[in-house]
Amino acid sequence: MDHVRKGRAVQVGRVLITREEIETRVREIAGQISSDYADRNPVLISLLKGGFIFLADLVRSITIPHEVDFITVHSYRDGIARSERIEILSDLKRSVSDRDVIIIEGIVDTGHTLSFLERMLEDRCVRSLRVCTLLDKPSCREIKVPVDYVGFKVPDVFVVGYGLDFMERFRNLAYIAELTNAPAAPEGKESGTAAGAK
Ligand code: IMP
Ligand code: MG
Repeated sequence: MDHVRKGRAVQVGRVLITREEIETRVREIAGQISSDYADRNPVLISLLKGGFIFLADLVRSITIPHEVDFITVHSYRDGIARSERIEILSDLKRSVSDRDVIIIEGIVDTGHTLSFLERMLEDRCVRSLRVCTLLDKPSCREIKVPVDYVGFKVPDVFVVGYGLDFMERFRNLAYIAELTNAPAAPEGKESGTAAGAK
């Protein structure tokens, strides 16, 4: 991940996935989940914060009874630097014992976050567990994790938008874009500084 460097200003670069493409794909995945989980009342667990917009759009197209819950884990220390240390900042509010669970993720990168969550949920005796992610960066995988529903595959670039952030910024973009270094951050332009990024 050499694309965004420490101390350099950043900018939103090329759009990789448009708003319309996301809308269409999210509806398709919702349809698939609705047919796969008919009569099973699954629990959709959104990984905060990156998965919250995806979950909100997904559930509005899901046609079967289901529940939602949220978990906040922290895996990225500072912007884009990868970390294998994962901690739970906020846990689920309900028991998932003997429930059909679907993890709703914004992006799967190295796989460490998912692997951690899977172990945790298996320990809580879920009936079944599947993973649904809007974005997948398969070329960055360091640990093998099964992903059952994938919106889009993306290359090894740092992406922002549709819930995904860079140092808490850019989650509000309605599309997925690549984040790049800015040659110089012009006054008033939407950009931040990669302080602390490797
Ligand atoms: P993993 O544990 O390496 O799979 O990392 C997953 C988490 O890293 C995601 O939930 C995101 O919060 C974050 N992440 C990984 N790649 C990106 C990216 O390109 N943009 C924004 N966040 C990312
Ligand atoms: Mg983040």
